[in-house]
Amino acid sequence: MGNRVTDILNIKYPIIQGGMGNISDPNLASAISEAGGLGTIGVGTIPVEEVRLKIETMVKNTDQPCCVNIPISVHPDTEQVVKEVIKYKVPVVSLSAGNPSTLIPLFHEHDIKVICVTASVRQAKKAEKAGADIVVCEGYEAAGINALNESTTMTLVPQIVKELSVPVIAAGGIADGKGLAAALSLGAQGVQMGTRFVATNEAGFHPTYKKAILDASDEATMIIGRRFQKIRRVMKGEYAAILLELENGDMNLEEFMEKTDEDYHEIGAKKGNMKNGFINGGQIAGLIDDCPSVADLMKSIVKEAKEVLEISVRQL
Ligand SMILES: Cc1cc2nc3c(=O)[nH]c(=O)nc-3n(C[C@H](O)[C@H](O)[C@H](O)COP(=O)(O)O)c2cc1C
Repeated sequence: MGNRVTDILNIKYPIIQGGMGNISDPNLASAISEAGGLGTIGVGTIPVEEVRLKIETMVKNTDQPCCVNIPISVHPDTEQVVKEVIKYKVPVVSLSAGNPSTLIPLFHEHDIKVICVTASVRQAKKAEKAGADIVVCEGYEAAGINALNESTTMTLVPQIVKELSVPVIAAGGIADGKGLAAALSLGAQGVQMGTRFVATNEAGFHPTYKKAILDASDEATMIIGRRFQKIRRVMKGEYAAILLELENGDMNLEEFMEKTDEDYHEIGAKKGNMKNGFINGGQIAGLIDDCPSVADLMKSIVKEAKEVLEISVRQL
């Protein structure tokens, strides 16, 4: 496999890990980079000292390209996080949840490649104009915070590909080789996955989180925050159900934001406590029924994508 995404990022396979906010695990990220993809730690809202430790662990574990995801408008000290990324010469950053235009030239000055995460044609065009090297197109199927327009990966990828000159990576609803083949067929040059990587040996999450993904059906996720225009896709569970009930009652935006901050995500994802915390999860969770090593997963995705694309050609 090889294309513009693998060339720009200097990786073997066009498979990247999406940022995972405060629960990001540097061991998972480095395992993905070691296996030929692009591993990513997200900075969420974690203190800068902790960001530094996570970067140190990630780059100590692998000499392959790896990435830091910065949700621009979410982290309280984006400026300092940017300095850390530059200091440690992390080769790639992924920018989400904010305007990347002032940050992109800064990263480029330091030879850092920039991926921008978008969820509409308008955002994607803006990111390209601002200088993004690669644009991620994330559909509504995806785990975590989603865009209000609710566009799906299947509809959004070809529309963004049509408008951009830079390569596009598809995210949301991809967990196997068939998904990778589909994304390539739509014109994307790679995939970004989140939910699939949660159920891997290396992911340092609570077994309850992994089990929720393995046991999931196609109806296992739900959207919270719609009334407040703060859409987030999570796995169904006790706390998530209570949140929805409160949201449909008299809860206000401030209370909603407080009850869905990263602490509550950690309670679900790291402590496995679904009574008092929630877990992000994407609609593709229903397809995931094993918990392999990252290396085996990556190999099987690439092998299956090749087989599926060959079979598809023979059918026409
Ligand atoms: C646990 C978890 C946390 C996430 N946190 C972030 C984040 O901090 N920043 C971000 O841009 N995307 C975040 N996402 C979205 C992923 O990066 C990725 O784009 C998405 O999971 C892809 O869709 P999928 O879940 O269907 O694979 C998160 C996803 C998961 C599963």
